Amino acid sequence: MAGHHQEAAEFNRSFAVTTSHRPSQAGIHLGKQFADELQAPFAERNDLSLKTLTARLQVRGLVVVSTHRVSYFTGGQEFFFHPGLAKLRINGLKNGKTDQMINAMSLRPGDRVLDCTLGLGADSIVASSVVGVNGRVTGLEDSCVISALVRHGLSTYPDPEEELTRAMRRIGVININHREYLAGLAPQSYDVVYFDPMFRLPRLHSPYMDAMRVLANPHPVDRETIGLALRTAARRVVMKERRGSNEFERLGFDRVDGGRYAPVVYGVIERKNLVT
Ligand SMILES: C[S@@+](CC[C@H](N)C(=O)[O-])C[C@H]1O[C@@H](n2cnc3c(N)ncnc32)[C@H](O)[C@@H]1O
Repeated sequence: MAGHHQEAAEFNRSFAVTTSHRPSQAGIHLGKQFADELQAPFAERNDLSLKTLTARLQVRGLVVVSTHRVSYFTGGQEFFFHPGLAKLRINGLKNGKTDQMINAMSLRPGDRVLDCTLGLGADSIVASSVVGVNGRVTGLEDSCVISALVRHGLSTYPDPEEELTRAMRRIGVININHREYLAGLAPQSYDVVYFDPMFRLPRLHSPYMDAMRVLANPHPVDRETIGLALRTAARRVVMKERRGSNEFERLGFDRVDGGRYAPVVYGVIERKNLVT
């Protein structure tokens, strides 16, 4: 595991930022902004293929900035922001369907949610739509590339559905390790603290997920972090994992919520059940 994490950390460092072919002035400006933010070198595209540019710069990946999309390319695979299943889930909720994550969080308008594993932000978007304008969703992401792409996507992704767009725009993104962030928070400063760590066993293999996996922090959550999360959460701590995962017991989740046949379920620790 340490080896894999080191590899992920190296991938996060070994990259440069470039633009699409024949970029506009705005595209070049945005590319330079990304390079600054990521403290990575900016390389002119000069009409080179990504393969040639990667070899020439001797990096493992490239952040490619264009005015309509920002992607990370590695080994021919592309990772970019999109709201994924969030749209379907938000529409489902509107039509009275149950969303297992929202149920497990027992989420209501006005709640404050700390998403400790932002990733692509789909879960945060759904939470943001439920908590609404009077609530707050903050997403923490350890990978600088993932957080930069997702922060940009959440603030610019154009969608005709206003509800989805507003939910995306309201999410705050912080590039930090969740353990470090939790350690500095005041007790009960959020209602729900949420974890969706990388599954111990990858559930599906797709080129897209593989490109994300090289960037993502693969470490399991530890008990100390759950302790910090319990101090931070006024209502509950929720963790998504595979059904039957030993992680629930290892981390002290006493209850598991979710559909009867769902492959993925939600562990819950309620503050009111804690002996303090
Ligand atoms: C499975 S993904 C989360 C997917 C997300 N729930 C969604 O809906 O798109 C896990 C993410 O958490 C991040 N992560 C893992 N450990 C972390 C940590 N200690 N601090 C911050 N982010 C972490 C990974 O880099 C990865 O992007």
